[in-house]
Amino acid sequence: MPIHKRSAIRNSEITEQAVWEDRRRLMKLAGAAGIGLATGQAAALVSGPGKQPTIPGVRETGYGRGLTVNDYADATGYNNFYEFGTDKRDPARHAHTLKTSPWTVRVDGECERPGEIGMEDIFAKIPQEERIYRFRCVEAWAMVVPWVGFPLSALLERFKPTSRAKYVAFETLYDPEQMPGQKRRILDWPYREGLRMDEAMHPLTLLATGIYGERLPNQNGAPLRLVVPWKYGFKSIKSIVSIRFTETIPHTTWWKLAPREYGFYANVNPAVDHPRWSQKKHRLLGEGLFSGKHETLPFNGYADEVAGLYKGMDLRKFF
Ligand code: MTE
Repeated sequence: MPIHKRSAIRNSEITEQAVWEDRRRLMKLAGAAGIGLATGQAAALVSGPGKQPTIPGVRETGYGRGLTVNDYADATGYNNFYEFGTDKRDPARHAHTLKTSPWTVRVDGECERPGEIGMEDIFAKIPQEERIYRFRCVEAWAMVVPWVGFPLSALLERFKPTSRAKYVAFETLYDPEQMPGQKRRILDWPYREGLRMDEAMHPLTLLATGIYGERLPNQNGAPLRLVVPWKYGFKSIKSIVSIRFTETIPHTTWWKLAPREYGFYANVNPAVDHPRWSQKKHRLLGEGLFSGKHETLPFNGYADEVAGLYKGMDLRKFF
């Protein structure tokens, strides 16, 4: 797995990385010693605002080694989750109305074993691992996040997709009482996303259950959200309740709303500008609005792993 280092690292970023690594070490020590250290306590000892339960038994991996992770406050305080409002600070303020337990995900469509799986079953049956990925929003901001989760393929295989399964369609919960933003017709609710089957089964495609070693906060898409690091962030659908194998291309929220602005593929591509802004560079969360911008890489830096999926396709047409 190639490691992509950012070139210019600010001092403050180094501090954030050091704090995060200290905190992780502490949690691990506490775990090994059988100390039931609450996340909040661990966080308080070494800084960091963790408020969610720690996910036990998370395996460390080499994904993203050498990248500098963003601050927890950036990743959890500046969000897109229109079910709770359209301001970046709305989800952190309002997403507490979402009830994430109990939670079940229905998996059906073109598969031999359609059914449901609960979150606790997911934690019991599928090993959790940590992967540090770059995350690039179509709005030209980006961050680096230590996700906890597992390859989407590990879940999909349990339901035995048939040879007719060409795509996978995802839906967020629809419940305007818990998600008051759904009372306004800004989007065609529920939020929908989709992947081609080979994209869904790709080893980089993750279902995330946590960040920074802890369960996902509601504003980040608790209890289960998709993460596809080589695609623009809108593909990473949050608070998933339905996964369906389909033979035909699924209707997805932003693609259907504005097909000339947001494609189905949505692969990060600095050579294809959004009609209203450039995609050549991005701002990293934590840096000032007017700070120097970073070059955006094709497929967000994951070209070696995923470019082969799109061989022979005109990426200007299939954007
Ligand atoms: N999922 C749902 N259900 N609703 C949304 O509004 N926004 C998307 C994506 N998933 C969105 C969603 C967009 S545009 C982005 S950039 C990412 O979530 C943001 O993820 P983050 O808030 O964890 O950074």
